[in-house]
Amino acid sequence: MKVTVVGAGAVGASCAEYIAIKNFASEVVVLDIKEGFAEGKAMDLMQTASLNGFDTKITGVTNDYSKTAGSDVAIITSGIPRKPGMTREELIGINAGIVKTVSSNLLEHSPNVILIVVSNPMDTMTYLVHKTTGLPKNRIIGMGGALDSARFKYRLAEALEAPISDVDGMVIGGHSDTGMVPLTAHATRNSIKVSEFLSEERLAQVSEDTKVGGATLTKLLGTSAWYAPGAAVSSMVQAIACDQKKMFPCSAFLEGEYGLNDICIGVPVLLGKNGIEKIVKIDLAEAEKAKMKESAEGVRKTNSLLTL
Ligand code: LAC
Repeated sequence: MKVTVVGAGAVGASCAEYIAIKNFASEVVVLDIKEGFAEGKAMDLMQTASLNGFDTKITGVTNDYSKTAGSDVAIITSGIPRKPGMTREELIGINAGIVKTVSSNLLEHSPNVILIVVSNPMDTMTYLVHKTTGLPKNRIIGMGGALDSARFKYRLAEALEAPISDVDGMVIGGHSDTGMVPLTAHATRNSIKVSEFLSEERLAQVSEDTKVGGATLTKLLGTSAWYAPGAAVSSMVQAIACDQKKMFPCSAFLEGEYGLNDICIGVPVLLGKNGIEKIVKIDLAEAEKAKMKESAEGVRKTNSLLTL
């Protein structure tokens, strides 16, 4: 499998690193517009190969899309990250133009590629790719829910004072501070609902901490996070590469599912060799349905800022 990562910034490099370490891809091409930057990141990563025990070949290129030809999966991380105090939505002006150009360049050289969109505001960027490329909807996947769910599990484990491997939970909805819908009523510890162990107030706190997960890190780091975004992307790419049909909440184009139409937003999907193999419909509690509706309104508001 050949994977391209567009953007050699912290998130892009972390995607390349985790994909290589998991050792399922033959080749990872990292592309950046900054002269020599992707080449440097790729060389540094390749010098970890003998230490970390992977055979994936990582190469870096400066804006040369011909080197990405024949990619099976491409990850779009390019654009500017948010600074402390900024929302993801504020990035739309700059990132929309970049994402549009990048996706068109990628498709020119890899007509069969599956695209994973990471650039923010992610749900709107995924919708933009959907509207401008005309690709079938199974080949456009927004990365948000996998990351948000990992942050949810981190917060659940913290509240439960449990190892993370004991907990399970999922976040659907928009990848924004207000749009995320952590499914607290479905979350479990060893198959027992977490509501058996945590008070309603503590669960509400877990939910709030999850929703501002990215903003909390942006404040601490001065820029947005990269390890967990990279790990989330690499798990999604692995599910595609190994045709795992593994379930992740991802931003997918909806045509009636969850009562929504003409929108990309986080819902549970199965990822396999064709990208989104299936959108999984789950029964939501009334409160979760209302939150999902509100979340979709927020995403639509950001979508309306696009000039398509
Ligand atoms: C975050 C970015 C990737 O949530 O949106 O860290």
